[in-house]
Amino acid sequence: MPHSDLFCDNWTFREGFEEAWTRQPQPGETVALPHNAVDLPFDYFDEADYQRMFTYQATIPWEDAFDGQEVWLRFDGAMANTRVYLNGTLLGQHADGYTPFRIRLSGHLVKGENLVTVVVDGSENPDIPPFGGQIDYLTYAGIYREVWVERGDAITILNTKIETPDPVAERKSVRVRTFLDNPQALPVAGNCRLTLRDSAGAIIGEASGPLGADGAELRIEGIEGASLWSLDSPVLYTATVTITGEGFSDSRTTQFGFREARFTTEGFKLNGEVIKLVGLNRHQSFPYVGYAAGREAQQRDAEMVKDDLGCNIVRTSHYPQSTWFLEHCDRIGLLVLEEIPGWQHIGGEAWKDEAVRNVRRMIERDWNHPSIIMWGVRINESVDEDPFYARTNALAHELDTTRQTGGIRKHMHSSLLEDVYTFNDFVLGEFERPNTNEVRRGLRERDEVTGLSHGVPYLITEYNGHMFPTKVIDNELRQMEHVTRHLEVLDAAHADPAIAGCIGWCMFDYNTHADFGSGDRVCHHGVMSMFREPKFAAHAYTSQLDPARKLVMEPVTHWARGERNIGGVFPLMILTNCDRVRMVLPNGQHVDILPDRARFPHLPHPPAILRIDQIDENILGRWGMSWPDVEFQGFLGDECVATRRFSAKPVLSTLQAAPDADSFGCDCQEMRVILRALDQVGNVTPFVDLPVNISVTGAATLLGPDQVSLKGGHTGFWLRSTGKPGPVEVMLKTPRLAPVSLTLETTETGERA
Ligand code: GAL
Repeated sequence: MPHSDLFCDNWTFREGFEEAWTRQPQPGETVALPHNAVDLPFDYFDEADYQRMFTYQATIPWEDAFDGQEVWLRFDGAMANTRVYLNGTLLGQHADGYTPFRIRLSGHLVKGENLVTVVVDGSENPDIPPFGGQIDYLTYAGIYREVWVERGDAITILNTKIETPDPVAERKSVRVRTFLDNPQALPVAGNCRLTLRDSAGAIIGEASGPLGADGAELRIEGIEGASLWSLDSPVLYTATVTITGEGFSDSRTTQFGFREARFTTEGFKLNGEVIKLVGLNRHQSFPYVGYAAGREAQQRDAEMVKDDLGCNIVRTSHYPQSTWFLEHCDRIGLLVLEEIPGWQHIGGEAWKDEAVRNVRRMIERDWNHPSIIMWGVRINESVDEDPFYARTNALAHELDTTRQTGGIRKHMHSSLLEDVYTFNDFVLGEFERPNTNEVRRGLRERDEVTGLSHGVPYLITEYNGHMFPTKVIDNELRQMEHVTRHLEVLDAAHADPAIAGCIGWCMFDYNTHADFGSGDRVCHHGVMSMFREPKFAAHAYTSQLDPARKLVMEPVTHWARGERNIGGVFPLMILTNCDRVRMVLPNGQHVDILPDRARFPHLPHPPAILRIDQIDENILGRWGMSWPDVEFQGFLGDECVATRRFSAKPVLSTLQAAPDADSFGCDCQEMRVILRALDQVGNVTPFVDLPVNISVTGAATLLGPDQVSLKGGHTGFWLRSTGKPGPVEVMLKTPRLAPVSLTLETTETGERA
């Protein structure tokens, strides 16, 4: 990989675009990348606000190191249509908002200052995916990922492809294909060297061979003692390729893992072992700043899917997402289904050609990630178009013989051109369910959906979502129903070995077009809020974890006498991985509540449910007369391992400010801070309605407004570091509560490449 320098600071940003601007620096706001062209309010905005032209400018001073070198600008992602000028000359453009592109500057750089002008057109260009129809998400304009200045010799490494043909064998092998960038089409003669190292840097294999115009392919066999990449132990290795020849040399190091991922008719197998896939769909959006979030925010999202939600797979709905996110999935052991951009609409021939190019861009960018186990090569939920999808599948298979393809559809009996029938099953909610005696199914049966007489690998890629939108402030009963629907699908997926798993809609609420959502430009479909604070439904997932990994005991109640229809808290559902839960009242009376295995026979950890007919309701006191405090105790065997108390008379007591970490990278990284309004025993007060004023000084700035409202008992914000390490002081003030101050720190975090 050529030498890369981050080129994210000191950009000038202004609205609009005129050709003449490309020839001289324009006045504007000084910004750093990643950058969002128009910060939107939280809700009720006009999504046309960012669908126009924006101009970014920056200067590349001539460096002696450029002399005789190839020089490029690499964009990791800019939305949506981007054109790049150097000193007034248009050098290139890229029309896909989700994949990286490089602009060759060599031959155009002058000694002195070089003016880079980047025009970003944020409009929804109907000629390219995902546009042309209406999409249920927003494509926020801007240079929203990093930009790099790269330089290297005339011949450099363009890409490497690392394959592990027999990962589960005792003696493993690695095949590395090296692709060259040779823009001057020079004759190539040289050598290619491959070094494999473990995470401690010890060499586990070496090879070398001739380098030709087509690059090189090197293979190392008989590697002994290498560990597999798995969910619990995601062991990574590196492959360093070094090319040398007359007048050139280059080297590139890439992470990889040994793992075998296979969807079969009996489910998904990782390294030969069947694993029930349980996951959620993730958009790459954040409140206010849209797509513009750097490494730490991306990594934290991956950690949330795995650790906070207890999932083992995430779908990057509906486009290739940040490589920071994917690299972290590799590191933490989280499986990924990645797909090309699109949403229900298929355009004309040129549009389809672009979609096929998207398959190439996605796979060539991401084929070395062990976390990625499938390529989604259909336009999400589009109709069958066999000739088109024959092309996307053929290309995916040609580029990557190791991964299976899927293609996300919502109609039954669709042509299966992929290796895996991937289906959005919204059966739950497709009919009215007036009473609990009704027979309902969480999921359809595979063969009913495929219409095939033979079994095929089968994965559920969405469910719930718009069938049951649920806001953080929705009534407790509705939230319990939201939970129940997620549990029912999980139970159905666990029940059927033919179903490889299920990926729910979706991880968190997201901003969207007016045609979707609740009119407020929000799809309240998440199991978390837009700030990534769990709704009750999040615990449907977490509570399925092995208690050794995380103990979960989350009653689906605010414990209030009059929140539910007719009052009370029954049926009382507790999402838990404890063996049993004891409800203890202040007078010492207690009731043991057991996991409801009759209702959810296949879940690893069914919720404990107490129905009104199982107790004497009077133990909680008479309506309007009294309502007790309560303590829930979770037991593993005879040991009480978790307790949770609720007050009968919650009083707003504290503002809790919980940052994800105390320190974060100083190089334009984001750190989330969640604010919770708590009562006297530490529970969230879900209906409190107060503003919080935020002020930030020091080495970070606030993203979003400096006055926010608590909703569902919480709100949140992200900080963005401003380039230099140092302390960050945050002051939070809200009426009725003592102010809270936080001191965080931004630090040098080393390499970002
Ligand atoms: C699906 C679609 C998603 C989202 C979801 C809401 O049809 O693929 O992007 O709109 O519905 O439930």
